[in-house]
Amino acid sequence: MTQGPLWSGRFSTPPAPEAQALGHSLEVDRALAAEDVRAATAHVEALRDAGLLTDDEAGQLADALAQVGEAIVADTFAFDPSDEDIHSAIERGVTDLLGDIGAKLHAGRSRNDLVSTDVRLHLLTLATSATDAVRAVARALVTRAREHVDDPMPGSTHVRPAQPVTIGHHLCAHAWALARDLDRFADWRRRADVSPLGAGALATSTLGLDPVATAARLGFDRAFDNSLDAVSDRDVLQEAVAVASICATHLSRLAADLLRWTDPALGWAELDEAYSTGSSMMPQKRNPDTAELARGKAARIAGDFVTLAAMLQGLPLGYQRDLQEDKEPAFDALGTVAQVARALSGAVATMRIDTAAMRAACLDPSLYATDIAEALVKTNIPFREAHRKTGELLKTLADDGKTLADLDDDGWNDVGVPDGAALLDPDRSIAARTAPGGPSRASVEAQLAALDALLVP
Ligand code: ARG
Repeated sequence: MTQGPLWSGRFSTPPAPEAQALGHSLEVDRALAAEDVRAATAHVEALRDAGLLTDDEAGQLADALAQVGEAIVADTFAFDPSDEDIHSAIERGVTDLLGDIGAKLHAGRSRNDLVSTDVRLHLLTLATSATDAVRAVARALVTRAREHVDDPMPGSTHVRPAQPVTIGHHLCAHAWALARDLDRFADWRRRADVSPLGAGALATSTLGLDPVATAARLGFDRAFDNSLDAVSDRDVLQEAVAVASICATHLSRLAADLLRWTDPALGWAELDEAYSTGSSMMPQKRNPDTAELARGKAARIAGDFVTLAAMLQGLPLGYQRDLQEDKEPAFDALGTVAQVARALSGAVATMRIDTAAMRAACLDPSLYATDIAEALVKTNIPFREAHRKTGELLKTLADDGKTLADLDDDGWNDVGVPDGAALLDPDRSIAARTAPGGPSRASVEAQLAALDALLVP
């Protein structure tokens, strides 16, 4: 049955088709069907508690809501062109089933409090999937790090050899960043866990509904503090997308490291075939698309944040239809970060790490220049002077086509570091860095234990 919109009473002209098309949001908010049925069912109970529905009417409404919800999930629900959004579609479906009893459903509620409620419920679920996936990446990093606590690799700054670290230390660094993202999501959840239902269009209602009881029925931690805030603000979405964007940035940087490590020119690691792709033209190719997409998707999620921030800034309080544009970026951001994390956790868990190639790269004597400067500091030479002296030594050697590895005992004595040759050793260099948080075995083991405790689901 084609009918006018739910609000058509005051109107004598139906909406222009192109205006209706512009306002139509079912493609996006259809994802909220289950949450809308949950929220509507809690609202029915609030109406019953307020004496506005009999037990029998409330029961019929709850059954009809369940039936409509199941039909939508099974894709057998007949949407009507007049269904502007999922909320109007479900209410119409219930009214088609129950007539006058269905027409009682919307008392004391508005699509404004309903959409805020549905979206919060949905985001809490999406965030759980995202955090499960991100935790899996962090745990995969911790597992791989534990395998490589004693395997050295050249640490870089500016993508140039800097000082030796261990593969375990490097992988833990990525895990720490993701652990902070999980903490951010947990913190966001505290603020998101608030029910807007009962706020009505903006000013609650005269019907004696109890938002606190409704919040408890929906499993929220608490009810809104201010009805106008409850229907107007979208900071819950904006913050979730901000956290997702930070997390996607971290995943993209992990992906960038995987791309560097697996660059055949470096040959430090290889992605498993299951996380690689071939070329349609070049038979020899094995491309790291999983990591490249993980890198690229971060841009899209940052774009989702910008979409929300631009849409929200300057909006006066109260519901505005602009707010309908909130869902696509929020659902996209949380869905995409989960998708990226799922793929990356597999890529990390299965990649082959060439510890011998990484150890061989630690033969580069320049990695130990800082150790030499610090050895001079221990003989009470001011660091600036030690730095200059070591730099001059490297320059003199380089001018002769030599490196620190070419210095003999006399040469080291001249430098003032008699045991200098022994310093050109990754294991020794790493073991000497005993500070907490550094690359030494004891420090990385402490980090692994702390990460294990943080990353329990
Ligand atoms: N579909 C709208 C949204 O997603 C909710 C409807 C509120 N519409 C209204 N005219 N007050 O934001």
